[in-house]
Amino acid sequence: MAPCAVRPILRLKGRVTFAGDKSIAHRAAILGALSAGVTRIENFPSNKDCLATLSCLKRLGVKINRDGASVKIYGRGLFGLKKPAGALFAAESGTTLRLLMGVLAGQPFTSKLAAARSLSRRPMRRVTLPLRKMGAVIRCKKRLPDLKEEYPPVAVTGTSLRPITYRMPVASAQVKSAILLAGLYAKGETAVIEPFPTRDHTERMMRLFGARLKINKKRIIISGRRNLVSPAKFYVPGDISSAAFFIVAASVIPDSRIFVRNASLNPSRMGIIRTLKRMGAKINIKYQISPAKLSQGRRDPASYEYSGREKGISGEPIGEIEIRSSRLKGVTVKKKDIPSLIDELPVLMVAACFAGGKSVFEGVEELRVKETDRIRSMTENLKKMGADIRTLKAKGSEKIVIRGVTQLKGAEVKSFGDHRTAMSMAVAGLAAKGLTRIDDISCISKSFPGFLSILNTIKA
Ligand code: S3P
Repeated sequence: MAPCAVRPILRLKGRVTFAGDKSIAHRAAILGALSAGVTRIENFPSNKDCLATLSCLKRLGVKINRDGASVKIYGRGLFGLKKPAGALFAAESGTTLRLLMGVLAGQPFTSKLAAARSLSRRPMRRVTLPLRKMGAVIRCKKRLPDLKEEYPPVAVTGTSLRPITYRMPVASAQVKSAILLAGLYAKGETAVIEPFPTRDHTERMMRLFGARLKINKKRIIISGRRNLVSPAKFYVPGDISSAAFFIVAASVIPDSRIFVRNASLNPSRMGIIRTLKRMGAKINIKYQISPAKLSQGRRDPASYEYSGREKGISGEPIGEIEIRSSRLKGVTVKKKDIPSLIDELPVLMVAACFAGGKSVFEGVEELRVKETDRIRSMTENLKKMGADIRTLKAKGSEKIVIRGVTQLKGAEVKSFGDHRTAMSMAVAGLAAKGLTRIDDISCISKSFPGFLSILNTIKA
């Protein structure tokens, strides 16, 4: 247990850079392992989730040298992984587990993926269902009360996969990526259709590694059995989901002004910025890599697609974000926009508490199956601090309604062992009146071990 006392601060001021984006780093390591050649990944984050991916890949026979934020992956090619001696351990990393299920579905051996406590309670059927359609044999654990759902540990026996066209019932980048990774092994074209767009790092990166991938509106199509080739150098842009805590804090704490450098500005992750701007936040964005260099003359760098010529850039827009404090107003976020800010919803709920008027977040039910039930954890905590929050259910969908109170008061709150709940409540505490105590913040290292030290460099 690592309790934390959070005192209100006067302002945030300064320049910050963040460790590499967690989602991008997982994918770079996995595709590096499956490609021919050595990939040197720079700005690789040292959070527990990404380290879990590296350790699973090592157990699959991949040589990996890590020197701080620089990681060298010695690719084994699409068909070069080795049967691991024992179970692979995904720790608490859902991305590790779900993406690797896709890879393992195409291997000529059986492997077992085990998980730590909270991940062992997260649903896997969304991945097992399409992978079984492709021919993989998968065994999972069942748990009460819902015996239809499946949970880790997961045993995957790969086969010669067949391509499928799969319409995903939930908008999930992890599910999409697992199917696309399995699709690398299927003979022919595998297509995934998303209900709403989710983060597209896998698609961008597969192209960067030479895969044949087409995008036709909501349909993403991968051609299988084509060898991947490493781009040699890969730079992981700063994690926008880590930056989000500081972006919200600087928006709601008066007299603040911060600059976030090297941030990933991928449009499929920018929901937090778009929403805060609609709330009246003062946010300026400068693309670091010049639009001309990025898109060879295309005007909007945010719509940049990797052309295959800029080695080491990663096929992701990168830039600087300037945030100044402002008076926020309430906002409505529709279900279709939720995937673009799914991990930022807890901290956006904090922002909504400081905004004048009503905020509504629609179609948020996926929050129930994250590291903890984040609707419950955030509602319970913010209510203790004086927030006016309700959750409503209608036709299998849920929404959160917050009436801004403009001033929260310090309270005793809980992280529920969930990193994003812990950091969101720290932001609430920094902007509140009085002392806030969080029972345990050790979970923060899952995604963002540097959270407190970065906060200390810019708080006043
Ligand atoms: C992730 C996708 C999202 C997100 C998670 C990381 C990814 O999960 O919440 O933190 O890297 O693909 P879902 O795919 O379950 O929405």
